[in-house]
Amino acid sequence: MKDIRIAVTGVTGLIGRNIFYEYIRQNMADLGRLHVFLLGREQGGVSFRARVMADLLVDGADYCGIAHGARELEDFAAQRVHFIEMDLYFDGIGIGARDLALLRAHRIDHFFHSAASTDLRDSDAVQAYVKRVNSDGTGKLLGLVEGMDVREFCYVSTAYACGIASGNIGPDDTDFKREFRNPYELAKLKSEKMVRDFSLKTGRRIRIFRPSSVCGRLIEPPLGTINKFDVFYSWGAFFLALKMKEVTDRERIFEIPFDVDARVFSNPLAGLNIVPVDYVAKAVYQICTQDCPGNGFNLTSPAETPHQFYLDEMLRHLNITGVHHVDRVPVKKNARENFYYRTMGRIFNPYVAGLPMLFDTSNYASAMARAGIVCPPIDKANFGLLMAYAKKKFFGLIPS
Ligand SMILES: NC(=O)c1ccc[n+]([C@@H]2O[C@H](COP(=O)([O-])OP(=O)(O)OC[C@H]3O[C@@H](n4cnc5c(N)ncnc54)[C@H](OP(=O)(O)O)[C@@H]3O)[C@@H](O)[C@H]2O)c1
Repeated sequence: MKDIRIAVTGVTGLIGRNIFYEYIRQNMADLGRLHVFLLGREQGGVSFRARVMADLLVDGADYCGIAHGARELEDFAAQRVHFIEMDLYFDGIGIGARDLALLRAHRIDHFFHSAASTDLRDSDAVQAYVKRVNSDGTGKLLGLVEGMDVREFCYVSTAYACGIASGNIGPDDTDFKREFRNPYELAKLKSEKMVRDFSLKTGRRIRIFRPSSVCGRLIEPPLGTINKFDVFYSWGAFFLALKMKEVTDRERIFEIPFDVDARVFSNPLAGLNIVPVDYVAKAVYQICTQDCPGNGFNLTSPAETPHQFYLDEMLRHLNITGVHHVDRVPVKKNARENFYYRTMGRIFNPYVAGLPMLFDTSNYASAMARAGIVCPPIDKANFGLLMAYAKKKFFGLIPS
């Protein structure tokens, strides 16, 4: 069988690492054919290589269904994975001459660009940072790819790059005239446009992947696994943080009830599209390896999860009462509500205010059916698995 060469940015993040694991898992029978170039940065004095290795040999082994410390994964990492220091923040993205030569010397079948700032806040400072890392950073990376032998450039965007929209949303839905929930979404759409323009200019094959709100794994064990707690998890983390200020017994924090007097806004007729990260990784793999036609791909669940369902479930798992749903933001607010709407609500409200969004995934449905992969539903049982994992990690509020 032919060798496969992939490159991945954002591998220390949620989606990038799961794409990386999925390529390993799918090629376990003959790992010698898989060659990987990982591009990322050191942090706090820990080299990029050491950061990835720590995850690969534990979380990655779980994903691939092999024992921790199994020789095959260690050998694979030592022989077939190249670690390339790169920071999108810098002009020239900081790649050294030797690494540049290495990248230029090899054909890459699929180059996945998943690195980004996922900061959904709306301040001037965040806007400037997101522009620099996400859209300018994508432009700089495309400059690098232009000088390389890359067969397909695959950009991990977001389903919300369509802006504030409702009803049927196609995989290439692009409208700069729409309103956007935050600078992050607009920067993602600008990046998509750069990727499309790059394809027109160079004739290179591109793919744009648009995941919705990504949750922990629900296909590959341990179920619920996730390395960060943002998007809807951060809503739970907000209320857990309130509870932890007053309930100091960490051992029994989820057994002890806690009452919060707060009215929280969401549209009762709509929900959030929540998709498991391993399903996203598997869809990416199948779309690329089965060579599905088209440029854009909505990596989304078939159905929205009603806001009031997953918010109530989170509160139930946290053993928190007294949060009431309202269909408009209260005018006269109590102290707790004031705090909520100034902080969490400010980021979250745009995602719970809109009308239902129905993402079209028909352009790769047959590839998923051929592979026998079904998107796990976000029902009570599966949401319970996500919550059990999040609780084990205190929603990221206590460093593990
Ligand atoms: N998570 C979601 O729910 C979701 C939904 C839709 C779309 N997306 C999109 O999917 C992609 C991946 O998201 P994610 O949730 O996996 O992100 P994540 O967990 O927040 O990880 C972000 C990744 O980008 C890297 N990165 C950030 N700034 C960088 C820089 N200046 N230079 C080099 N690398 C940098 C991070 O590296 P460090 O570890 O060094 O910081 C990390 O590997 C993003 O483009 C995001 O917009 C995510």
